[in-house]
Amino acid sequence: MDIRTIEETAKDVQCDALVVGATYKTVKQKTNELVLVGTAREVDKLLGSLIQTIYSDGEFKGELGELLTLHPMGKLAAKRVVIAGLGPQEKMHSRVIRRASATAARHLQQTGARQIVLALHSEELGIDLEEAIRAEVEGALLGLYTFKKYKQSGANRNGQGISKISLVASNAKDVILNQAMKHGIALAEATNFARDLVNEPPNVLTPSELANRASLMAKQFGLEYEILDRPEMEELGMGGLLGVAQGSAEPPKFIILRYRGASQSGGKGIALVGKGITFDTGGISLKQAEGMHEMKADMAGAAAVIGAMYAIAALKPAINVTVLVPATENMPGGTAYRPGDILRIMNGKTIEIVNTDAEGRLALADALSYAVKEGLSPIIDVATLTGAIIIALGSVMSGMFCNDQALSNQIIAAGEVAGEKFWPMPLDEEYEEDIQSDIADILQTGGRAASSAKAAKILEHFVGDAQWAHLDIAGTDFINTNKPYQEKGATGVAVRTLAEFVLRRAQ
Ligand code: BES
Ligand code: MN
Ligand code: ZN
Repeated sequence: MDIRTIEETAKDVQCDALVVGATYKTVKQKTNELVLVGTAREVDKLLGSLIQTIYSDGEFKGELGELLTLHPMGKLAAKRVVIAGLGPQEKMHSRVIRRASATAARHLQQTGARQIVLALHSEELGIDLEEAIRAEVEGALLGLYTFKKYKQSGANRNGQGISKISLVASNAKDVILNQAMKHGIALAEATNFARDLVNEPPNVLTPSELANRASLMAKQFGLEYEILDRPEMEELGMGGLLGVAQGSAEPPKFIILRYRGASQSGGKGIALVGKGITFDTGGISLKQAEGMHEMKADMAGAAAVIGAMYAIAALKPAINVTVLVPATENMPGGTAYRPGDILRIMNGKTIEIVNTDAEGRLALADALSYAVKEGLSPIIDVATLTGAIIIALGSVMSGMFCNDQALSNQIIAAGEVAGEKFWPMPLDEEYEEDIQSDIADILQTGGRAASSAKAAKILEHFVGDAQWAHLDIAGTDFINTNKPYQEKGATGVAVRTLAEFVLRRAQ
């Protein structure tokens, strides 16, 4: 993809489609008023107030998600003009720009455009220009994402469609603008990289292949990396990960990526830990058949932290970050771990197994123990951990359990800029009562009620004194229907928030 800034005027810019934005003002007890910003106003003038006329006729309302396509018939050099609705002025936010840009780019890709020009951003929107440009670039690249590598024919295969995106600017050499663009490109590419990992079928993306892809990315950016195999896991006492892996013919991998952006005195740094179950059958406590194929996405937490590392490596903040991924399948079979087993985690604590489908907390327990042993803090883990978080928050928000108020605020604030939502969930000590075992240190599951919180409480046993946040993304990692702004499948959730969080910490 060729992405650049250009200085041409709305009239002269040659492209298949020029995308501009329209918002509106709500006037009390009167009809709403159309507000065309920046390039949109110029376009309307060149077209003899056509946009205003169509708005007055009620055919276009400027709502978010709405698109109006006009053919300028020679009045502009652009073949088409797309006016993207940005919703009401008072709700203006970079999230809106990201969404509108994605919707327009996706629509244009599906209708044969190859070269598009984006002019949604404007100082007149009343939001930070840099943030708007980032969101505009991110939106377009996220909206254009497709995963069609296994389809031999059909429309919109990878490699087809839009190949050039230009951003209209009054000064194309503006440093801030180009930096914002670079930032947006890195975050979108990182998200799409994570989406690819999640969308890959589980026969391709085994723990070994996940380790390969992470290593390739690390090599590409010159990051340090280390892949631990069974013997090293045994040495370290990773009984949780090894227990889950026991039933699988695929060898487990413990993936470590290290980014060093800070000087020696910069401290040990941040740990990003991701659940890497490349396929979750439930094990001996087998899941029902319906929907089981979606359990290929049970490594979306791993994809999120590896994806975040991609963005971090590309943008090079002055801070140290370590990514840790316990990767395995969860399979049933003659060698599989059983309900009733007791596993010993790396930090020495024992867990009595109740349900082999609660495998994520076991693999994560070892990875969190590893992070603590390395002296890393804060530790943020990302996991498709519980079905219950889907019931609580749906696909709109990810659940966040955090032992530190400042950290919680920072993650929410980073998510706000990244366009991802995290809702604070409780780590109340009373939940501990249901995870008491008579014969081990901890009981693996505590019943259906508040099972997301109880899972988080189990993880808390393995974070020592570190500042820690656990992001349960079971409801947000995957969408089952195509959206105007996003293809169905992996969302790449948490990549941008984690990257943004790290970038802000480095400042
Ligand atoms: N990977 C699942 C959680 C999940 C469910 C993710 C649905 C996405 C969609 C996890 O390993 C799991 O099976 N959790 C169980 C735990 C239970 C057995 C205590 C759950 O939440 O039902
Ligand atoms: Mn499970
Ligand atoms: Zn799982």
